Amino acid sequence: MTATVSVLSPANIAFVKHWGLSDDDDELPLTGSLSMNMDCCLTHTSVAFYDSEDEISFLSESGQLRRMDAAESDRNAAAYLHLKRMKAHFDEKRGLKVVTKNNFPSDAGLASSASGFSALTASVLTLLDGEFPPHELLVDMTAKAGSYSAVRSLVDHFGLLELGSDKLELKRVNTELELVDLIVLLNPEKKEHSSLDGHPLSKTSPFYEARLQKTPKNLDTALACLEKNNAKGLFEVTSQESLLMHSVMMTSQPALFYWSPETFALLKALEGLKGRLDFGVTVDAGPNVHLICLEQNLPALKDFVFGFLTEQKIKFDFMEARSCQGTRQVDFHLF
Ligand code: PMV
Repeated sequence: MTATVSVLSPANIAFVKHWGLSDDDDELPLTGSLSMNMDCCLTHTSVAFYDSEDEISFLSESGQLRRMDAAESDRNAAAYLHLKRMKAHFDEKRGLKVVTKNNFPSDAGLASSASGFSALTASVLTLLDGEFPPHELLVDMTAKAGSYSAVRSLVDHFGLLELGSDKLELKRVNTELELVDLIVLLNPEKKEHSSLDGHPLSKTSPFYEARLQKTPKNLDTALACLEKNNAKGLFEVTSQESLLMHSVMMTSQPALFYWSPETFALLKALEGLKGRLDFGVTVDAGPNVHLICLEQNLPALKDFVFGFLTEQKIKFDFMEARSCQGTRQVDFHLF
């Protein structure tokens, strides 16, 4: 009997964002993107052959196992379709049992699709092929799942996803910067719109073209800053990228508002810190705020945010993410 295969994969936070997909059948990203893996947001996925139809279950932090129904959401349907696609690649007819667990709030805009789809792809390919997949197959297959942020989680620490002439290219970026992402969880509940629903709407924004002009330049700048250890430059471009993406989201038809009133209040308060402390501000497809700073500035930044939110009686939690290894096989299993 083939043993269970397990994989751990981190979510990531994008400094330069991917938002919107090409019109053709490939539905490729419109721009490259750059991110940092988050060591506090991990998905653990185990997979084995199964004497029945494919089954994906989600194990909650409290230990409850719940079967994910394909009809329940587009994300679930995409996960089942992805299993079929990977089995077809290996001409595999047997059923698969998949159990997956997150150590962070799922669907709260903390990029659980990035960690989830990278872990699902790597674990299933490893089971079907008998060994951890080579880089190119892993990148190609993860991209086919339709979550391009997931591709960036495959490499260690900082992932750069570029649009090559005929295919996507994923590279690890090296830096000496000791970066921390202070995540301010303002609402860890399920978000209203998944990025899957959001991508197709981007074209309806009048700012769509403007963003397509600017983001490739931002990518070059962010990459150069990271490689040359220019923290201040990286923070500036990261903050601008987030505002650009949310401008497109908020002016799409229908409009997508991922920010809550608390998000806005905190962003406005942080303006008052500018010039006194260097940090970048980025918000993903959810209400939570990610503050990117150097390790030495974390205590001061945390004090400021703590003081402001407490004074405003806004409920919140902190998480701290540092960069970490990308998707890897592990020998502990969920079943
Ligand atoms: O995971 P995807 O490919 O559906 O897109 C995620 C998009 C954002 O998280 C909003 C930005 C990014 O690049 O991570």
